[in-house]
Amino acid sequence: MHAQTLFNEIVQQLQAADVFFGHGAASAEEEALLLLSHVLTRDPDWINRNPQAPVDTEQAQRVRALLQQRLDQRLPMSYVTGSAWFAGLEFVADKRALVPRSPFAELIGKGFQPWLGDVRPERVLDLCTGGGCIAIAMAKAFPAARVNAVDLSPEALSLAKINRNKHRLADRLRLIQSDLFNAVTGCYDMIVSNPPYVSEAEYQQLPAEYRHEPGLGLVSEGQGLRIPLTILAQAADYLSDGGLLFLEVGHSDQALEAALPAVPFTWLLFEHGGSGVCVFSREELLNYRHEFNRAITEPQYES
Ligand SMILES: C[S@@+](CC[C@H](N)C(=O)[O-])C[C@H]1O[C@@H](n2cnc3c(N)ncnc32)[C@H](O)[C@@H]1O
Repeated sequence: MHAQTLFNEIVQQLQAADVFFGHGAASAEEEALLLLSHVLTRDPDWINRNPQAPVDTEQAQRVRALLQQRLDQRLPMSYVTGSAWFAGLEFVADKRALVPRSPFAELIGKGFQPWLGDVRPERVLDLCTGGGCIAIAMAKAFPAARVNAVDLSPEALSLAKINRNKHRLADRLRLIQSDLFNAVTGCYDMIVSNPPYVSEAEYQQLPAEYRHEPGLGLVSEGQGLRIPLTILAQAADYLSDGGLLFLEVGHSDQALEAALPAVPFTWLLFEHGGSGVCVFSREELLNYRHEFNRAITEPQYES
């Protein structure tokens, strides 16, 4: 059998099933590629370029068994294969952290232009790092930078450690267990954060695939805004002069704007999908800090 034949079979089965696409693969075709790439131990681009690659019986059986897990359990494909691709890099993926899928990948690929201009960040903080994908991709994009990566979850950090070793970054990437900034020290040229921003009510409505991910990575109290507002209120204390905060809040963008009517937002545009990432300079964060603090004390955004 050829890879293309098996690819078509996987796509057909995924499309016929009631599954949700969106955990690092946006379509049945992308998921089929992930699965084939895993079993044939080739990267997805290679599979794309070699549709006539032979697949032996054992490999085909393995593909079908894994596909069945995806269909029966509604497991995200990356949890089935144990791997995910982000910003052109492969990561170990499992239930300890969310499947990497942030639009930060595109931003990292563009070197955060035009926002950084000539600045080469030397100190970077990834707040809410999960399995470490953003921190690791940042460290690769900025080879002179020292990156600190924070998460509250020891499980997520243990996965981030595996990924840090896989990408040989132990000398430049430090993992810190912290409740947001509580255990963070020092000043950073850039803070990037993809924190939890889903409300409890929205979480209850999400497709079954999300139930396999740690709820801690998705849900924020205060209608999804408590954690993003806290980051906005505190980030200036950890940024150097001229430093930038890039904060992802996904589809909570409108709710965040509504919570902060006096704050002018700069939302980034993405060519490859995704939205809800805003950027603030340290100076802006200081100017509007009273607004962030005011919003946090409103009953609907409190814990
Ligand atoms: C949306 S996930 C992002 C993971 C990863 N950065 C990514 O983009 O795939 C959010 C992460 O925030 C962590 N988290 C939740 N509450 C936190 C808190 N109070 N302080 C630090 N990390 C927290 C979760 O454990 C989870 O790994």
